[in-house]
Amino acid sequence: MAETTRTGIMLIGAPGSGKGTQAKKLKETLGYAHISTGDLLRAAVKAGTELGKQAKSFMDAGALVPDELVIGLLKEAIVKPEADKGFILDGFPRTSVQADALDAEVTLDKVINIKVPFELIEERVTGRRMSKSGHVYHVKYNPPKVEGVCDVTGEELYQRSDDTAAKVKERLDKFVAETEPVIPRYQAKGIVVEVDGVGTPDEVFARISAVL
Ligand code: AP5
Repeated sequence: MAETTRTGIMLIGAPGSGKGTQAKKLKETLGYAHISTGDLLRAAVKAGTELGKQAKSFMDAGALVPDELVIGLLKEAIVKPEADKGFILDGFPRTSVQADALDAEVTLDKVINIKVPFELIEERVTGRRMSKSGHVYHVKYNPPKVEGVCDVTGEELYQRSDDTAAKVKERLDKFVAETEPVIPRYQAKGIVVEVDGVGTPDEVFARISAVL
């Protein structure tokens, strides 16, 4: 596939650092497509596709899904018409093999590295609640009006199977071992900006907006 000239922003950060929360806000203001490989994989699991069946056990264990499965998903998403204006990557790349594949497809404009101390991550992740339609809450920081019920759709909220304290530890270990090492290649291109991810979502969004 030829390299696309679409505008791309990557959000990188530990699990629970707020990538999804900030990507949704950026999507609203910029009109770019939000490409979350986690969301795409969860949708595949829910739909019971062959890819979803293969990915499920890795996701439930807090492990990374094999590169070849995720790279295929990303390549499909990045050429969709929704991404014509630009795209926001959330959760990709997570390994150097994925970064190689991405770099062969696109040139990124900016990489936002959202920094949150690991001591705060467990509370953020274990307190997350989701609706089937993808609305995200936090029991303490962003609670729904009625406990356990989505404000927007009225759906029952659930906890992701990988949002337990034990799985968070696995996911953080993977982040340090596999994902953080991809950051220097973008630093070498001068496109990485570190943003403090502590504070309210609006405060973090203001910091991101200021550097874009
Ligand atoms: P994925 O869904 O990408 O999970 P993640 O990277 O672990 O990130 P999270 O979704 O946990 O957190 P986030 O940074 O988006 O934070 P959020 O905004 O939700 O991936 C899940 C799994 O899929 C992986 O483990 C792997 O198995 C697989 N996978 C996905 N991509 C892959 C890839 N490329 N390669 C291989 N495998 C892949 O916020 C978290 C919580 O905190 C929420 O409750 C939110 O309301 C709250 N919150 C957000 N911001 C704030 C704030 N500023 N203050 C207080 N609370 C906040």
